[in-house]
Amino acid sequence: MDIKKNVSGYRLGVKKPQGGRGVENAPEFSGWVEQVRNLNTAYTLETGKTKKIKMDIFGCQMNERDSETIAGMLTDMGFEEVSKDKPADIIIFVTCCVRENAEERIYGHIGALSGECEENGAFIVSCGCMMQQPHVVEKIKKSYHNVKIVFGTHNIHTFPELLYRYLTKKKRIFEVWEKEDKVVEELPIKRTEKHKAWVNIILGCNNFCSYCIVPYVRGRERSRNMNDILAEIEALAKDGCKEITLLGQNVNSYGNDLGEKDLFAKLLYAIEDIEGIERVRFMTSHPKDLSDELINAMKNCKKVCNHLHLPFQSGSTRILEKMNRRYTKEKYLSLVSKIKEAVPNIALTTDIIVGFPGETEEDFEDTLDVVKKVGFDAAYMFIYSPRKGTPAAKLEQDIPSEVISTRFRKLLELQTEIATELAKKTEGKTLEVLVDGPSKQNPEILSGRTRENRLVNFKADNVNKGDIVNVEIIRAGAFWLEGRGGNKLG
Ligand code: SAH
Ligand code: SF4
Ligand code: F3S
Repeated sequence: MDIKKNVSGYRLGVKKPQGGRGVENAPEFSGWVEQVRNLNTAYTLETGKTKKIKMDIFGCQMNERDSETIAGMLTDMGFEEVSKDKPADIIIFVTCCVRENAEERIYGHIGALSGECEENGAFIVSCGCMMQQPHVVEKIKKSYHNVKIVFGTHNIHTFPELLYRYLTKKKRIFEVWEKEDKVVEELPIKRTEKHKAWVNIILGCNNFCSYCIVPYVRGRERSRNMNDILAEIEALAKDGCKEITLLGQNVNSYGNDLGEKDLFAKLLYAIEDIEGIERVRFMTSHPKDLSDELINAMKNCKKVCNHLHLPFQSGSTRILEKMNRRYTKEKYLSLVSKIKEAVPNIALTTDIIVGFPGETEEDFEDTLDVVKKVGFDAAYMFIYSPRKGTPAAKLEQDIPSEVISTRFRKLLELQTEIATELAKKTEGKTLEVLVDGPSKQNPEILSGRTRENRLVNFKADNVNKGDIVNVEIIRAGAFWLEGRGGNKLG
């Protein structure tokens, strides 16, 4: 079934976007926030307690960033956020559907929390990409009764209204807008970190890679206004933020829908002037749109980190065509040469899919060949997962699963070997690290990222989260570096 058709015929209490929902709508939005806050105040006066919420976030940086907006709304509505291991009154799932195993995990987690809901009268709110699929909403409606509110990626800003309606009427709400509206600005944000931040620049995707569900669940490309982006980054800088990551499914098409060319490169130049921001990252770049202007901007902008995430998906031109990626193996390799020449010491990372229908041994050898020729610092490798509604899902999967597993293992081994080799080259060097705080594994040790986005664990005195320090690398593995010392740079 074609998801697009299915979505437009979607009638599960769907409310269509009403024109003018945006900044000018702020009073309506804040009105709902206030109504819920009043309910919470009354509850606190009566019981001496505060209503608690916790969030379970799946998927990519888009979801991480959306979750900061949801957390911002919840804080404004008077809820207290607690960690995942604590009991809460409301449990929020921010879902992902990029691969089948992501969906399975989410169903598993929602099911597992049902006990907690029965025990203390808690309920579940489910939102995010997975909810944009009508068959998922149907399944939740039927089989997951503790999910009381469902909304989608296009109507996050209606959450306070939905919550108020549920809290006052106690009737389950399934409200998923089928289409994207214009970008809604000025929603509250509770940032996860102070020293680094995600900044959306373009929402949605127009590329329709044949395997990918994202364009169906995130809608078409909508660029944010450049002044809004710069104002957000300026405010972040004033608040002590040192590193920003510009987000989009394809940042390279930033501005296309505004009728502007090369606006992404212009944005990078404009950010150079923002005092306090020391590092700029971005993701993701589609190889077909990586322009010379962008490569030049990466070369010229001192704040832009020497790291590029450039997914290639498959090394075989034949498979790339079936994937609708619109570049060839040769084009990808020549882009890599160009960027390596322009930005010496660039660290490249990538995404790779193994086992796309019709992938032969020869096609797979091409993938290994690209991995060998480029030398990626890191690669996110996935086994192809058919997604309902995408063109590739109609292709017959003719590769036995043992063959796919063998290919995957081979690729993983090769990539780990290459990443280890590249990492070893950092031993003895001194690298600039932005400190993220104590390491999750060992609180005695600090953890941070180099400009190449390599993870460094190190010991140092008088160094704090958010500091930028020089660290001497003493040992290196494929996924982390070990360092010592920390001369403060900023
Ligand atoms: N917009 C980004 C990322 C999209 S999703 C980009 O274009 O690179 C992140 C990664 O998930 C993709 O790069 C791809 O490697 C992988 N992916 C997407 N759909 C998939 C599927 N159906 N099966 C397996 N991997 C998939
Ligand atoms: Fe999916 Fe392709 Fe868009 Fe990335 S560029 S989100 S892989 S359709
Ligand atoms: Fe998943 Fe949606 Fe991101 S499907 S990968 S959370 S855009």
